[in-house]
Amino acid sequence: MPITSALVLHGPNLNLLGTREPAVYGHLSLPEVDRIVRDHGRRRGVRVECRQSNFEGELIGWLQGAARERFGGVVLNPGAFTHYSIALRDAVASITLPVVEVHLSNVHGREEFRRHSVIAAVARGQIAGFGPQSYCLGLDALLALGNVRPRAQVNQRRRGGV
Ligand code: DQA
Repeated sequence: MPITSALVLHGPNLNLLGTREPAVYGHLSLPEVDRIVRDHGRRRGVRVECRQSNFEGELIGWLQGAARERFGGVVLNPGAFTHYSIALRDAVASITLPVVEVHLSNVHGREEFRRHSVIAAVARGQIAGFGPQSYCLGLDALLALGNVRPRAQVNQRRRGGV
């Protein structure tokens, strides 16, 4: 059966959105960002589940379990793990589900150490610099890849359409 759900994962310190360096990350809290992404998903006919963890192992567990939980793909903001977590990189490389790496800020225009992502080479692609919209664009990228399908399309197929 086609999969109509996507998983959004936020890494360390993203629970502090709204108060954490607002000049860089904006004034919206994590629940507000999650609402924007879920609403975007709803408009696209996709169910979005959002989770955040400050722990590498928990993020790895969610990545490993995503297919079993019937998600069609993952939008991942690895936070600072982006720049050094080989364990998270290996988890992304180990699963067959598409993973889109996203960042609120344009990491390529910031400090030198943020310009390198150990995740990028094993993700399907990277989106950075559009604030909360980075997650929505990440979701659209998953839809474009076709592993996550809009519910309307799935229902139409069931009714015998194209
Ligand atoms: C971030 C960028 C990372 O460099 C940083 O460590 C974060 C947030 C972003 O969304 O812009 O925690 O991933």
